Amino acid sequence: MFKTLDDLDPEQRVLVRLDLNSPVEDGVAQDNRRFERHAETVRDLADAGHRVALMAHQGRPGDDDFVSLESHADILADHAGVDVEFVDSTFGQTALDAIRDLDAGDVLLLENTRMTDDELPEREPQEHAESEFVRTLAPEFDAYVNDAYSAAHRAHASLVGFPLVLPAYAGRVMVSEYEANSAIATKEFEGNVTMVVGGTKATDVISVMNAIGDKVDTFCLGGIAGELFLRAAGYPVGEDIEGMDLFDDQWESNHETIEALLDERGDQIELAVDLAYEDENDERAESRVDIITEKDRAFLDVGSETVTEYDPIVRDSEAVFVKGALGLFEDERFAVGTVGILEAIADTDCFSVVGGGDTSRAIGMYDLSESDFSHVSIAGGAYIRALTGEPLVAVELLKQE
Ligand code: 3PG
Ligand code: MG
Repeated sequence: MFKTLDDLDPEQRVLVRLDLNSPVEDGVAQDNRRFERHAETVRDLADAGHRVALMAHQGRPGDDDFVSLESHADILADHAGVDVEFVDSTFGQTALDAIRDLDAGDVLLLENTRMTDDELPEREPQEHAESEFVRTLAPEFDAYVNDAYSAAHRAHASLVGFPLVLPAYAGRVMVSEYEANSAIATKEFEGNVTMVVGGTKATDVISVMNAIGDKVDTFCLGGIAGELFLRAAGYPVGEDIEGMDLFDDQWESNHETIEALLDERGDQIELAVDLAYEDENDERAESRVDIITEKDRAFLDVGSETVTEYDPIVRDSEAVFVKGALGLFEDERFAVGTVGILEAIADTDCFSVVGGGDTSRAIGMYDLSESDFSHVSIAGGAYIRALTGEPLVAVELLKQE
């Protein structure tokens, strides 16, 4: 399918695209799973004696998290156990000088690709390949490695331009993310396939149901999306907490589709039987959904009875895919749903993939062990696209006939 790092000739000059896009505080990148994952690719390339130049992006122009990659270099170096030199240029003269200075096993991180004008416009790969960015850097290298699976849905120069002009390889992260996240679309499972879907976006849940509804035996719903389904099923829930507007707009634009999905796939869809909220003493309280008579309270998690209902479904599955959280797990009081389901998955030896936005953060926050899951994805938008079988433009360019 892909040429990988193991197919590289010895002592190559390698240009590598990573996805180090991270939360930023006071201008400084915060450590997260992406660094740890990409460290393997970086270490393998350095240990093999290649000359390695890394590219990555951070934020978008105009946003607070659009910052230099200087702090990223240190975090990556810590994880990889090799020095990572940083140069504050992406393809200017100082970048070219630093690239030409690389010795075997050296690693260099170039400045944020989105600081160049050529990177961001969504363009055809051929057009990107003709950009000054690609035409300047490509001749300095023998090979291009794409490890940025989680950015592979973007048709940006560093992702789609280089594979047209350099021999292209998939990095370690690219290979593992691709295999696990495509499994639901590509693999046949004999036993039950369960999908736990939550998060904030109803449209994500709708696309997933439409695209792979026939491959999934049971959808267990939670989160904002789950409440919208409950509301479509006739329960008066889906009230925003103060200052948020998550429900009403989504309800307006999606309720007919959700009602139709409930008609068509009702047998496959499990909805919460109880929900949790913050009571007057700021404590977690729960209510069964069938006694809720008025839409006057914001709910922040599925209830414990729901976890008890979902638990055996998960335990009876051959494969479980998680997309989105079942509650506001960042607040310990409302982590019961998300953590309860993750614990059930961790406890069984089913094939399991956890991804979608921040959901995988719950694993570290609540002391679950990553090794109890088949795959914990570092992708957000790319993960959803993979689940719905949509091709990722930069992945397609790496595939070999
Ligand atoms: C991500 O962090 O989800 C990817 O790196 C893509 O970033 P983007 O959404 O800013 O294009
Ligand atoms: Mg994003």
